[in-house]
Amino acid sequence: MPNSFYITTPIYYVNGKPHIGHAYTTTAADAAARFQRAKGKQVFFQTGTDEHGQKVLEKARERGMEPMAHCDDMVVHWKEMMERLQISYDRFMRTTDPEHMKAVQGVLQMLHDRDLLYKQGYVGWYSPSAERFWTEKDLIDGKCPDTGQPVQKVEETNWFFKMSQYQQRLVDHIEANPGFIQPESRKNEVLGFLRQELGDLCISRPKARMSWGIEFPFDEDYVTYVWFDALLNYLTGIGYRPDGSTQHEAFWPADFQLIGKDILTTHAVYWTTMLMAMEVPLPKCIYAHGWWMSHDGRKMSKSLGNVIDVELLRRNFGLDATRYFLLREIAFGADGHFSYDGFLGRYNTDLANDLGNMAHRGLSMTSNWLGGTVPAYGASTGHEEALVALAGEKLKEFDAQMEGLQFHKALDAIMDVVRATNKYIDTTEPWALNKAGNVDALNTVMRTVLEVSYFATMALECVIPNKAAELFGKVGKTTEQARADLVAALHVGVDFQALEEGAAVEVGDPLFPRFRKQPEEIAELLEAAKAAEAAAKPAKKSKKKKKSKVKEPITFEDFSKLDLRVGEVLSGEKHPDADKLLVLKVSLGEEQPRQIVAGIASKFSVDDLVGRKVVVVANLAPATIRGVESQGMIMAAGGKEVVDLVAVDANVGEVVR
Ligand code: MSP
Repeated sequence: MPNSFYITTPIYYVNGKPHIGHAYTTTAADAAARFQRAKGKQVFFQTGTDEHGQKVLEKARERGMEPMAHCDDMVVHWKEMMERLQISYDRFMRTTDPEHMKAVQGVLQMLHDRDLLYKQGYVGWYSPSAERFWTEKDLIDGKCPDTGQPVQKVEETNWFFKMSQYQQRLVDHIEANPGFIQPESRKNEVLGFLRQELGDLCISRPKARMSWGIEFPFDEDYVTYVWFDALLNYLTGIGYRPDGSTQHEAFWPADFQLIGKDILTTHAVYWTTMLMAMEVPLPKCIYAHGWWMSHDGRKMSKSLGNVIDVELLRRNFGLDATRYFLLREIAFGADGHFSYDGFLGRYNTDLANDLGNMAHRGLSMTSNWLGGTVPAYGASTGHEEALVALAGEKLKEFDAQMEGLQFHKALDAIMDVVRATNKYIDTTEPWALNKAGNVDALNTVMRTVLEVSYFATMALECVIPNKAAELFGKVGKTTEQARADLVAALHVGVDFQALEEGAAVEVGDPLFPRFRKQPEEIAELLEAAKAAEAAAKPAKKSKKKKKSKVKEPITFEDFSKLDLRVGEVLSGEKHPDADKLLVLKVSLGEEQPRQIVAGIASKFSVDDLVGRKVVVVANLAPATIRGVESQGMIMAAGGKEVVDLVAVDANVGEVVR
């Protein structure tokens, strides 16, 4: 449908309760869905739970429950999280839904009929934590390369999907559709992965070993692999049935499928090749965002115990502030660290000082000096025109960034207008105008500030729906009117003529009061933040670091001998002969990528690095390191222990000075 917009989140495992990572993807999808709805699109927003597989079965057993009863019990927590975060989903999909299960069986039958499935003996390593198979060479120290958790050797006969035959078609599709996998670094990662030969995909588990799944329609001894089942939810949820019916076409292909970078291969390779086999078009975009990390650089996850419960943030700071923080704090696509201080800082600057303060100033001065109604414009103070122009430009930017899911930039664009308006208030000094009895100019300033308050919240409504509605009420508008005004402003531009002259304004409490709670009032939150931080610390006691002495000075001439370049890591593997070394292929924009041996394996896996931009010493004489040639050096921070890489966001091959 031309006016449709379909957005999905991953469906979450019901082996644990939700945390900041899950809240993050879901809030991002929600903001995008709300924005598109406000713009008049026919939106379908789907999220849900992934309820089959070994992990869920083990959890149910651990709790002494039947798996279905366990799922029914756990799903309550997920729905509760969504309700608390005011997630406006259209469908909450559960893979135990009978209609979904029937459709999955239909797809299996269809692929079987098309001779795209076969049965074969198999030896592999199964990671229950990632719910996927690995080959022996994938393992890191004998553990799952994704989760670091133990794997189980599996020797069994299984059903396979002929995934390998779609390899070239998938590469071609990715190359022909630059926006298909985003961000760019993730696209490169997938292309890097597809440079190796793609195998076929094991899509079953013998019931004798693991029975909690959807039975194969043509082989009752097997259930389907949890990912095969789960990925199909994106289609079955919008009515796809493998019987030629077309209901799903109202929303398919999806506009955005949001995922965390942990599940890139399953989506960009397994899902897309499944779709090819089913002869269903591929989604328009698979967008892999980054991770919320703890201080030690590890992904926040339930199993590490270093997660922050979003509910605590919501209870202490309010829902809108929590949603704003999640989307503003880190670039969508990059990793970010959570810290309590970071949260407080963002709250106090953006929300309390900038947005909240601006609105409160406008409302209270209007009420104190202008009888509490929206004034008509008086004479210009000479500063309004620039503010209107800025708002027009920033709204366009907001729109473009929201369309591209760059929430942090979209929010900042609106905050630019808010900050400029606070400066405008300081410059025009309405208190002085009031004192001097210059009502004409005072009317203009107050009207302008009220208009900006409305303008900003109207744009931010998809992120801060409650505070926005509160502000609309204070200036005599409804949410419906605000959405219509937003669409009008996007179409015909911003003129700061949206409010109705004479409408009563209401001051009330500031939208975001400055956070002044005493530590004992937020003890619960502080404790949780501390516990997450403690869990993040590496198990071994960290030795006190000696500060390394600055070396003897060098001349500029010495320094300028260094040729530093921006490189992009294309692929890599572990050094065959040294645990701490990685052998990486790095592009400096030259004809051939360089092979560089880097002593960073204690901190990074190859997967962490592919797609990253790094600084390379390009003119370091080649050397053979433990039998492998190295043509340059990657710059990293840290002494003996690597802490991070020196990374830049610039074009490959660029000189670093
Ligand atoms: N059930 C599979 C997905 C199947 S989709 C067909 C799964 N579930 S999960 O419960 O493990 O959720 C993974 C998702 O949660 C990630 O892709 C990401 O969206 C989110 N996050 C979990 N931890 C995260 C962080 N620490 N940071 C950001 N998001 C992460 O995988």
